[in-house]
Amino acid sequence: MKTAICYYSVHHGNTRKVVEAMAEGTDTDLIDLKNQPSPELEVYDCIGFASGIYGFDLHPSVTACMQNALPRGKKVFFVYTYGAKPGIAVKTFRKLSEQQGATVLGEYGCKGYDTFGPFKLVGGLAKGHPTEDELKQGRDFFLDCLKKI
Ligand SMILES: Cc1cc2nc3c(=O)[nH]c(=O)nc-3n(C[C@H](O)[C@H](O)[C@H](O)COP(=O)(O)O)c2cc1C
Repeated sequence: MKTAICYYSVHHGNTRKVVEAMAEGTDTDLIDLKNQPSPELEVYDCIGFASGIYGFDLHPSVTACMQNALPRGKKVFFVYTYGAKPGIAVKTFRKLSEQQGATVLGEYGCKGYDTFGPFKLVGGLAKGHPTEDELKQGRDFFLDCLKKI
């Protein structure tokens, strides 16, 4: 069983930290969509998509990757970090998964340090997130997904 996580993490590397904690010590390919916007995913049985929340939703790069590069019939899961609220990202992920005939294994989200716009003036939101505990919860979620394959 081959697994990959395609991620987009641009603000503080919060989402990257979560997926790195997930992948550590496992045979999982981490694919940075900034460098590889349209990866070859046919070889993977299980594919995670991970994104910070930008404007109440997942990043357009993640949406585009799911629409253009996700082969039909794969097992997928979603990972996201957000400063205050995850907005409609889970709904979007579920809709895109359905469009591609993918089976959703689950979603994991946690807060991520946020200094976007005016929040910078007050020292940012969700300082210190993701915490060690959140990284561990993310990893437990991922290991559970692997068990479902
Ligand atoms: C342009 C921009 C828009 C954002 N919009 C939201 C938002 O709508 N809701 C929210 O809770 N956080 C929002 N955030 C905060 C990020 O979701 C949060 O910091 C996240 O952890 C960033 O992940 P990253 O460091 O992996 O890029 C926004 C951040 C940026 C830079």
